[in-house]
Amino acid sequence: MRVFADNLAERAGQMRQNDVKGEFSNAPAMAILRRLNEQEKVMKRLFVIVAALIPLTVMAVDLSDEQRAAIEERIQPYSKVCVTGDEACSAKDMGAAVAESGARSGDAVYNSACMACHATGAAGAPMLGDVAAWEPRIAKGMEALYDSGINGVAGSSMIAKGGCMDCSDEEIRAAVDFMVAESQ
Ligand code: HEC
Repeated sequence: MRVFADNLAERAGQMRQNDVKGEFSNAPAMAILRRLNEQEKVMKRLFVIVAALIPLTVMAVDLSDEQRAAIEERIQPYSKVCVTGDEACSAKDMGAAVAESGARSGDAVYNSACMACHATGAAGAPMLGDVAAWEPRIAKGMEALYDSGINGVAGSSMIAKGGCMDCSDEEIRAAVDFMVAESQ
């Protein structure tokens, strides 16, 4: 393409000389050659502009990536509430929380949070060790009993977690396991 254009330009030069000398005249051919020449210049200029824009565009993308990271850094909350099993909390956060409290055993939870009702039968609570009272309840399956322990029994004084709001679901399950084991 390049060589071809140069060739044409050279021939056009000769033709122009011939023209001046009056030996040869081909005005339409000359006009076409001049236009070809101009188009090539325009293409070259466009190429230079595009080439100059590429690094600018790359810089713009880089910058906004950095800015995004900086903004995310700046809008981080000061503290996070971690709930057991919450995937948003890192293993480190969870490890710290568990290490601080340590899960209590089933009988420890029972003794601090459940025995007030379940050792006395207060408000109709099935008593610890009362096999007959527990038999129909155990027949419902452990999942149902865990659910009652964690969420309470509607319409009774068995409220969610027996009122022990700082007991984890895991600790309530352990307490239910303990109560069932002692009552069959
Ligand atoms: C304020 C009294 C009270 C406290 C405290 C209490 N319970 Fe209960 N619980 C009851 C009563 C009343 C029932 C019987 C509810 C019913 O079936 O109508 C019951 C029933 C249950 C049942 C059987 C539910 C079922 O589906 O049959 C489980 C399991 C249980 N409690 C676990 C616990 C655990 C674990 C704790 C301690 C973390 C606890 N309870 C603390 C009053 C209490």
